[in-house]
Parts: sequence; structure tokens; C-alpha cells
Amino acid sequence: MISDRSYTVEPWCVRETALNLDVLAQSESVFALSNGHVGWRGNLDEGEPHGLPGSYLGGVHELHPLPYAEAGYGYPESGQTVINVTNGKVLRLLVDDEPFDLRYGRLVSHERTLDLRRGVLERVCEWISPAGTAIRVRSTRLVSLTQRAIAAVSYEVEPVEARTRVVIQSELVTNEQLPETKGDPRAAKALQSPLEPEEDFAVGRRLRLVHRTRRSGLRVAVAADHVVEGPEGTSTSSESNEDVARLTVTSVLEPGERLRVEKLVAHGWSGTRSKPAMSDQVEAALAAASVGGWAGLAEEQRETLDDFWSRADVEVGGDEEIQQAVRFALFHVLQAGARAEQRAIPAKGLTGSGYDGHAFWDTEAFVLPLLTYTAPESVAEALRWRHSTLDAARERSAQLGLRGAAFPWRTIEGSECSAYWPAGTAAFHVNAAVADAVVRYTASTGDEQFEREAGVELLVETARLWRSLGHHDHRGDFHIDGVTGPDEYSAIADDNTYTNLMARQNLLAAAEACERHPDRAAQLGVDDEESAAWRDAADAMYVPYNRELGVHEQHEGFTRHQRWDFAGTRPDQYPLMLHFPYFDLYRKQVVKQADLVLAMYTCAGFFDEEHVARNFAYYEPLTVRDSSLSACVQAVVAARAGHLELAYDYTGEAALMDLEDLEHNTRDGLHIASLAGTWTALVAGFGGLRREGDVLSFAPCLPERLSRLAFNLQLLGRRLRVEIGPDKATYTLLSGPPLTIRHHGTQVTVRTESPVLRTVPQPPAHPAPEQPPHRSPIRR
Ligand code: BGC
Repeated sequence: MISDRSYTVEPWCVRETALNLDVLAQSESVFALSNGHVGWRGNLDEGEPHGLPGSYLGGVHELHPLPYAEAGYGYPESGQTVINVTNGKVLRLLVDDEPFDLRYGRLVSHERTLDLRRGVLERVCEWISPAGTAIRVRSTRLVSLTQRAIAAVSYEVEPVEARTRVVIQSELVTNEQLPETKGDPRAAKALQSPLEPEEDFAVGRRLRLVHRTRRSGLRVAVAADHVVEGPEGTSTSSESNEDVARLTVTSVLEPGERLRVEKLVAHGWSGTRSKPAMSDQVEAALAAASVGGWAGLAEEQRETLDDFWSRADVEVGGDEEIQQAVRFALFHVLQAGARAEQRAIPAKGLTGSGYDGHAFWDTEAFVLPLLTYTAPESVAEALRWRHSTLDAARERSAQLGLRGAAFPWRTIEGSECSAYWPAGTAAFHVNAAVADAVVRYTASTGDEQFEREAGVELLVETARLWRSLGHHDHRGDFHIDGVTGPDEYSAIADDNTYTNLMARQNLLAAAEACERHPDRAAQLGVDDEESAAWRDAADAMYVPYNRELGVHEQHEGFTRHQRWDFAGTRPDQYPLMLHFPYFDLYRKQVVKQADLVLAMYTCAGFFDEEHVARNFAYYEPLTVRDSSLSACVQAVVAARAGHLELAYDYTGEAALMDLEDLEHNTRDGLHIASLAGTWTALVAGFGGLRREGDVLSFAPCLPERLSRLAFNLQLLGRRLRVEIGPDKATYTLLSGPPLTIRHHGTQVTVRTESPVLRTVPQPPAHPAPEQPPHRSPIRR
């Protein structure tokens, strides 16, 4: 059904069987390797041609002034942008006396494979130079999930028929020239040659470059070491200058002979450590990696992924594309978060420079749910990063005249970088997403240490924010006025239902955490009066409702607004924000992305089934999905409302967002939240996973096309396996003490020795809802 797929459909890998230079940038994102600390785009080994060269280090950014046409109080003045750091991927090749460059000569074959079980990117190609020399090149690359500073390449060349002279230049390259961007020229200027040289070194087979950013003052060190295997006569030399360090390997190969270079690359950065300390740090990382060498790294990678898949795999029967896509998604989400270690997880992970490398609520609201149940250690790290930015968030809150902490809408190091406050600072719901992630993580792991060290404070400071942002009216109702919810086609609205319900959960969770940890609460200055005020606000939280229509309002007065002229909007006018003024979008009923519908997923218990059906039917024809964060949420709620085929189509959209480049911007990096949403659509949609207090509940139900869905979850030291068929669901406790869950509302206790089988009831039947013209998901 889907035409022009660039990749073959296989269960455990993503394979591209021919090189298409027109979509090179997209494939560089799809083939990106990362561990959350180091990110290498899938650029070709020889550096050129490229779509977008990209080597990133989590947290490394440059500052630039933020432009405003008119001044205003409290506008963030300094922007942060991810920078392309020293590139350790480069291995150039000279064949006889011609450069191996795929734009010349004849490419006989070219195949790249992202192996999701081995965690490597493999490339095999055969090329005939313009002068007629045929060679075979094979490279394998990894970014280590176990040794976070390390990436490595194994590179091999062999002649196909005749004696060939080859030269491999293995390089570290800083300040690569990037393709021109359209954005703000001041930001672009900050990014031209962002790194100032501090040290270059090349001795024997070892290379090192140390640089520093101009404004943000971050020191970046990258070093490489090599193992060279070639026939007798193979020789090496090395040299360096400010921005390039190079090992040159020369050899003459007879047919049947090979030249192989193993390159280990170590990365480090710091805002405080000295140049010698940084040089030592990367040298030490190299020394550690050299012990096991390439083979050791490859083996560790496989073991780590075996463990991950045993905890996280999702099996999908009946749809090979979704099967592949969900594993691709899990792999990339793991890569984004695995070793981020107290740095932000950006919306694009470390796969591209889209969104300037910023992290949004995407992390807590979309990425962390998946990681909580599959790789919880990384969730603690991500939330500790948020915690480490509390001072900046408190400062921001004070600047806005509020209490507690106001986390930024978009950032790299913690301060607000959004220059558009109606869809930036006013989107206070990011704070509730942080709190929700804290509650989910602590409830699912019982990690008391985290709760005491970071969790309670995050809940307290966000609760303080809500209490000061909202107010009780004369009737006692609590309102949060003038904020922007998830739907960015409405702004500065009163009582956004999603925000209010999430704030309510946040206020209650803070009060409960303080009860559990009275000493911690006292340290944070919380007294009984304060937590009582939180509970009062939560109990009195106002939720706008239209009685005539019998639906919840996205925000007060939303359903009274004029409807968008959907019939008069052409397909090429989407996304609407690029073709219509925000002014007009804001005053009409048109929804960019799930908002009230998102509330029915994240605050599921608040809505009875009748309202889920009615609300979904009301908002579906208004929702245009101009954000990649929408389809997965619509999938979950469509499944709950019994629209299983629609849920299935939305799952397909979330799953194929990047493999099919559905939004035509995969070139800038992957949509990590949408990838995570693939898991959410399957597990929370067709699996019906919901958190009800400390109990997990399931409401499984499959669409016709799926014969089977199976997934594993980690919970309180246990491993639970859920297998869903068309009529039956089986719950198996793989390890740990007995666990009580719910299946379609009934309590079930699962023990390791005896799987529990339950019938899957028929879904509720409601008339199929409609989408705006031209905006239905692609039918699967
Ligand atoms: C969405 C936001 C999201 C951001 C980054 C925007 O288009 O509307 O909700 O956080 O993209 O993914």
C-alpha cells in the first residue's frame, strides 16, 4: 500500500538496498547512531556527499541573541543551539589516484543496514572508479551503549579484480562547512565555525583535537586511536592542524587482500574542566575502549541490546511494517535516552539539528512513559536533569511574578529559549508533564532515593507554580487563566481542560509526596497550610463543559468559537501555521494536535466512557494533526472509544512518521516523541494500559488486521508479559512476587508459576467519527 519505500520490511533491521542521493539527508537521520551522549548521523564514511553532516554531544550548544521586533518584559534574550562538534566518523579513501566519491564513477551496489539487535550500522558497496578500478568497501559503525564516550568504526577495503593502490585517511574534522539555513542570520553566524581551536595532536596512530565554543564556553575534546591490518608494506603517518587531525594509511592490495582500519573515537565536553583534564579524559576513555577493541565493543553492544529487547520488545502479528517500525522506534528512543545522563533528551534526540536541538515537554509526556516500563534507569537520569535545572526554573517563575518553578518550553541547558511566548512560556503544561513523569516513575519503580533527592522537590515546586498561577473565584472554583494548552492553534486561553486536569494531579501528588516525606517537605518549607491549599485548589479545579453539546470544552468558550473553514482549505495549505495567521487560527475551532483528547488519555479516570465517545466525536473533525505528537494520542483514545480501525490507521501514521518521512522533515532529525508514540499507540491503545493509582490496568482489544500483540513491562522489580489475541489476553509474570492488575475493570492477580487467561470483550460501538477533509490518516 505504501509506495516508494526506501527501506525493505524486515523484523529486526532497516535496510536500504540502493543509494538515493535525493533522500540522503533523510537516511542520515534514520541511520543515526547515538547513546544519548554521543550522536552520529548516518553520514557516509567519506564525509561527502552529505545531506547534513552531524556529530553531536548531548548538552553541547552555542548561545546567540534572540531577535525581537519590539521589546517586552521577560522575553528570553539568549538562544541556545546545538552545534555540530568534531566529526570522528570520517574515513576518506583514495583508489589508485581517485577519491572514492559516489558522485563519480559507477556504483555497482550499495547497501546500508541498521541492525536493531546488534546496534550497528553496516554498509557494503562495490564501486568502479572513473578510471575503471573496482573496489569493495565494507564498514560497520557503532556508538557504544556501554562506554558512553565511545564510538567506533571498522572499515575494510578490497580490490575486486586487479592490484590496487589505496590510501585511507582517517580523520577528526572540526568546523565542517554546513549547508546554508534559512533561519535568523544571527543564529546562523553563531554556528559558522562554532569551535575555536585549543589543541591538536597526532602521534603514531593517535589523534586528538580540543576546541572551545566562543560564547557558551564549553570545551570539546575528541580523540581517536586505530588498529591497522594490511598486507606487508602497509604504512601509516599522521599529522594535525587546528581543525583536522589525520592518520594516513597506504597500501597496495592484490585481489584477495584487504586493508582494514579499526577506529575508536572518544568524546568529552565540559564547561568547567581544563584543557589538560579534557585531553586526559578522552585519552582515558580510549584506553578503556582499547582493552576489548572493536570486537569487545561490538559484543557489549549486542549484550546490552539483548537485555533491552528482553525487557522492551513488542511483537506485532499481522503487520510486518508496524512490527519493524515499532522496533525501529524502540531502538531510537533507547538511543536518545540510554546514556543521556543528566542532560536533556531533545525532541530529535541526537539525530539532527532540527528544533535547534531543544528539549520540550515531548520528553516527559511522550518519551519517558515508554522508558519507565522498559529502561527505567534512563528515566531517573532524565528527571534528574530536570531537577538540576530547578534554579533556572525558579528564577524564571520569579521573573514572571509566580512562585515555585516554571520549566522552559524549549531549552538545552535549562533556561527558556522560546522567543514566541504565546506558544512558549504560556504553555505552562510542561510543568505538569514533569510532575506526571515523576509520579509514574516512582510508582513504577519504588525508587525512594530518587523520590527523596529529586522527586519531592520537583512535585513541590511545580505545585507551587500552579497554586500561584491560578486563583479561586467568588464561588470557590479554581481557575488557571490565560495559558496555552497542547493545541498550539489556541493560545492564552482560560481554563484549558488538559492543563487544569494535569495541574490537579500535580497538586494532589505534591501533597501526597509531602505526607510520605514530612522531613523533606519541612526542608522545602512546606507546611500544612500550604499542602492544604494545594488540595483545595485541586478539589475546586474548574473544568469547562458545554451542557448543550454534552462535551468538555478544550478551554472555556472554545465550542462557542466559529469553526475553521475546513471545506475551503486546500490540501497544500497544511500545516495551517505556514499558510494562515495565528491570529485567525487562535479565534476559530481548529485543533493542531490532541489536547482535550490527550486529557482523555493522561487523565483517563476523569472521563466516563460516554464522554470519551462524545468528546472524541466532537474533536476529531476539528483536529488537523499539524504536529507529529497527535496521531499516537488519537490512536489511544480512538481505541478506547471502540474505533479500532481508526486507531490502527493512527498507529500506522505515528509508526511510519520517519521511515516514510510523512511530514517531509525527517532530514532535520527523527521525531522521537512520535517514535515513542508508536509504543504508546500499541501498548496504551490496543493494550489499554492505564495507571490507576498504583495499579496497572489493561483493556486489550485488537483491530481486525492484527492477529496478535505481545509486550513486556517492568514494574516494581517485576517483569510482566502481556499477550493479546483476537479473543483472549494472557498475563504472565516472568519474574518477581505476585502482582495485582486489572483486566477490563476486574482485578487479576498474576503469579510467576501460572499465566492468567482472560476473555477480550467486544469494543463499544459508536458511529465512525470524521476528520477534517484531506486530514484522515492513511488507511492501512
Ligand atoms: C508541537 C509541540 C512539540 C514541538 C516539538 C510542535 O510542533 O506543537 O507540542 O512539543 O513541536 O516536538
